[in-house]
Amino acid sequence: MTRRLETDREKMLCYCLGVRYGCVIDTIRADACASVQQVTRKCKAGGGCRSCHPEIEELITEVREERKGGGGILGVIARVFGRRR
Ligand code: FES
Repeated sequence: MTRRLETDREKMLCYCLGVRYGCVIDTIRADACASVQQVTRKCKAGGGCRSCHPEIEELITEVREERKGGGGILGVIARVFGRRR
């Protein structure tokens, strides 16, 4: 699941507003967004037809898991060495 946080950054996520995955991921991380509405306010993604809302919600969940130490290689290292990021 966290693969997207690292590899799909250049892919378009919100076609209505022309916002890529990387921008949405950075916004969620930087502003600790917990809802699609918060993401839309910060970077405009999701402010059109709303068809990208499920994808944005998934990214919010993935970033939340990443914060808990569950995502990517850093998450594995954190779990192995018992530290939280
Ligand atoms: S694709 Fe994001 S609002 Fe339409």
